[in-house]
Amino acid sequence: MRTVTVPGLDLPLSDYCLGTMYFGSKVDVQTSLHLMDLYAAHGGNFLDSANKYASWLPGFQGGESEQVIGRWLKNHPRDRYVITSKVGFPYGDIPRSLAAKYIISECEKSLTRLGTDYIDIYFAHTQDLDTPIEETLKAFDSLLQSGKIRAIGASNFDAWPLAEAGCSARQHHLPAFSVLQQRYSYLQPVLGADFGTQKVLTPEQIDYCARRELLVMAYSPLLGGLYEHADAQLPIQYDSALNRNRLRLLREAASEYGCTPSQLVLSWMAASSPAIVPLVTASREEHLLDNLKQVPTEQVREFAERLNNLDRFTIKYS
Ligand SMILES: NC(=O)c1ccc[n+]([C@@H]2O[C@H](COP(=O)([O-])OP(=O)(O)OC[C@H]3O[C@@H](n4cnc5c(N)ncnc54)[C@H](OP(=O)(O)O)[C@@H]3O)[C@@H](O)[C@H]2O)c1
Repeated sequence: MRTVTVPGLDLPLSDYCLGTMYFGSKVDVQTSLHLMDLYAAHGGNFLDSANKYASWLPGFQGGESEQVIGRWLKNHPRDRYVITSKVGFPYGDIPRSLAAKYIISECEKSLTRLGTDYIDIYFAHTQDLDTPIEETLKAFDSLLQSGKIRAIGASNFDAWPLAEAGCSARQHHLPAFSVLQQRYSYLQPVLGADFGTQKVLTPEQIDYCARRELLVMAYSPLLGGLYEHADAQLPIQYDSALNRNRLRLLREAASEYGCTPSQLVLSWMAASSPAIVPLVTASREEHLLDNLKQVPTEQVREFAERLNNLDRFTIKYS
């Protein structure tokens, strides 16, 4: 794995982050610990979690993913890993909010569950247009000052609240977001596609992040395994001529290069400029091992060129 950097963090981060949303819940504890071992054995040091993972599953309250990471960290040097968590979405009796009191109290709970005294990247999991952004950034600032977190990130933000947060940080000498984590894959959502509270990474945001030096992270990069199913129907949010052509190219290129479509998607993302760090996850060992194999740079470059030509053609003539 190659590495990327985040302003405010000394440790370089691996360019594939391990998603742990279902670890300790749908993925049982022993399997979760084993998957983290496999990821680390392949050079990975970047683990993504959130306070509410996976509270929506029957029988779980949230915090299960953090707890299993905490258990794993007991046998691993804390300072060699970059751990994220998130606050802002509702779970249990916690409302959807980025008000200061929830940021402070949820951070304490996450630290306890993770069994650590700091979180490397603490995310606002969703935008909160009812709380002044200054209040949110001040709460993050107090956590940064006390050493409980080391950098802050935004997730599921539209372009304007993200830019507004950047302006507010500069104007009031408050901390700025160093990372943006959005929904993003190889297929492009059709205009007006609805993902509920999930927000898609846009070309405008990629440009913003490049100019303001935010690391970009992509969640759900494999669309739940869609690229490995040759007969998969495109979900309505992705059903377009452009995507059917993209899918055809992906499958052709993967077969020529002797890799899987998923491997090509992840490698293409990580090699883009600026780099987009995919959140890689699986509940099955063979899926994780497959996905961690990166495609050689030369092939990824050639694929990116073919994709650019295809999109130009599709957009012009379809
Ligand atoms: N910030 C946010 O709001 C947000 C939202 C969603 C997710 N996330 C983060 O992003 C991470 C990934 O999200 P996601 O689960 O939606 O990711 P995804 O990439 O869309 O889907 C992962 C699923 O794809 C399947 N898969 C992976 N490799 C495969 C292969 N080679 N063949 C067949 N199937 C394969 C896996 O199935 P198996 O389980 O069978 O292995 C796995 O469950 C999460 O863990 C979380 O950390 C963040």
